[in-house]
Amino acid sequence: MAMLRKDCLKIIFLHFIFLVAVKIIHDPVLVNGDVALIGRVCSITPYPADCHNCLDSNPLSSRVDMRGLAGIAINCSYAAAVDLDNLFNEYVQYGQSQYEFCFQQFDYVVQNVSSALQSWKNNRYPESQNLVTKAVGAYLKCHNNLIDMRYLEPFLVGLAKTRSSCDNAIGILSRIGS
Ligand SMILES: *[C@@H]1O[C@H](CO)[C@@H](O)[C@H](O)[C@H]1NC(C)=O
Ligand SMILES: *[C@@H]1O[C@H](CO)[C@@H](O)[C@H](O)[C@H]1NC(C)=O
Repeated sequence: MAMLRKDCLKIIFLHFIFLVAVKIIHDPVLVNGDVALIGRVCSITPYPADCHNCLDSNPLSSRVDMRGLAGIAINCSYAAAVDLDNLFNEYVQYGQSQYEFCFQQFDYVVQNVSSALQSWKNNRYPESQNLVTKAVGAYLKCHNNLIDMRYLEPFLVGLAKTRSSCDNAIGILSRIGS
């Protein structure tokens, strides 16, 4: 008798799971539409995997349009640039003066990306795109200065993250009609 009741509960439970699954599959507004938009937007970026890392990790992504996704992408560039700026600062504070130039350039990267986010908030998308492009210019100055592999190693991950997230933000911003 006890066994039977357990089986019965199991069947009811499985039936419930089935109904929930059907509901999710058939509700494109809740799930499919947004996944499709993020997929389309990331496919036009130069680093689609990094684009997904950025957009998929933000719960806001499922509720915004392409303009909103651009803002989230700029935010990812900002986070990456701030992290690396802080890391350069730590090394400089520690007496590693060969990183002073990059520290200065990354201050510019952070400033320019921050300004880009401001322009984005004001719906000025081409201006926002120009500012992220300017940030990449400062990034490149730092990168060229670090070309000596001895200096590059601790910063490889942060440099790659900054570059890919900025290029992705530019890619998305360039597709927004103004
Ligand atoms: C960007 O990040 C800031 C701080 O984390 C947050 O307040 C803001 O809502 C974010 N903007 C977008 C578009 O994600
Ligand atoms: C952008 O960065 C440049 C340095 O590359 C700096 O001179 C300028 O003030 C920054 N502009 C903005 C709006 O953040």
